[in-house]
Amino acid sequence: MQNSQDELVAVRWDGDAVVYLDQRRLPHDIVYERASTVEQIEAAIKTLAVRGAPAIGIFGAYGVALLRRTIADDDAFALAARRIRDARPTAVNLAWAVDRVLEAPDALDHARGIHREQVAIDAAIAQAGIDVIPKDAKILTHCNTGPIATAGGGTALGVIIAAHRDGKRPHVFVDETRPLLQGSRLTYFELKQAGVDATLQVDSAAAIAMQRKAIDLVIVGADRIARNGDTANKIGTYGLAILAAHHGIPFYVAAPRSTIDFSIATGADIPIEERAAAEVTGFGGAHAATQDARVYNPAFDVTPGHLIAGIVTEYGVSRTPYQETIPALAGRASFAALLDLQ
Ligand code: MRU
Repeated sequence: MQNSQDELVAVRWDGDAVVYLDQRRLPHDIVYERASTVEQIEAAIKTLAVRGAPAIGIFGAYGVALLRRTIADDDAFALAARRIRDARPTAVNLAWAVDRVLEAPDALDHARGIHREQVAIDAAIAQAGIDVIPKDAKILTHCNTGPIATAGGGTALGVIIAAHRDGKRPHVFVDETRPLLQGSRLTYFELKQAGVDATLQVDSAAAIAMQRKAIDLVIVGADRIARNGDTANKIGTYGLAILAAHHGIPFYVAAPRSTIDFSIATGADIPIEERAAAEVTGFGGAHAATQDARVYNPAFDVTPGHLIAGIVTEYGVSRTPYQETIPALAGRASFAALLDLQ
């Protein structure tokens, strides 16, 4: 399915399938695909055709709602839902969304609710985060946290785009984000679409950018946050936080509450997905190493909470001591209820 509309839609319910924007094809091709079987849904998540913690949660929620309609046998359905829930282990949003849909009396209605809720949550994150962005800020970001990563308005990128719309004239240094280039393929593309000034750099240019380009802050997304603020995000994020601390640059995380795993005390308990060697030994069919090279390819790392200046959620900016401020978010009223969404 080819589509070249300006407004990209990450994930959409379409009656007998879940439609998704194939993020692997961006920025060159805007292609929508349909997933209607457990194999197709699982593959779209595993191959990062649909990616970004909130977006895979919403896609998984619609996927389970669809399979509830197409798989009559309860045991077979439970196995299929488990396959989707486990398709990627680090982003807690996927398991969170699938569990919510499984517990709901009307699975589709609930999946739709999670999607609508994310749009409202992203808007609140953008509003809450705008204060941490000074005027004319030079901002460094990593991976992709824009609208296609959340199926809403984005988290860290949503904050930056809101600052831009507010007339703050941010300039964003975009890490290309090896090995799958979410920064160069997706973030740079989304920033240009939004009219935000941006400069692309290789990941290893981050240190000299902080030293010579007067970076004011770093802001990134998250895949799972522990009760003490330790934050899993795309590989390379931890290194950026250390670099930022060395240069005295504030390092922020923006994420919805659904990315916080209140059941784990520290980041040591966050499972880290390790992906195929082929992602490192080549790209787009070109070889970048001998094909038998031994490879370590963790998709995420964990930034200790003490390196994080603030965690922006839909409830505002949480700051240290995170072991107090993060658990306090669990007791806050549901955002959906506040907005009368469900
Ligand atoms: O492997 P990916 O591309 O799904 O990793 C995504 C990230 O690390 C994002 O920063 C995170 O999911 C937040 S998306 C709003």
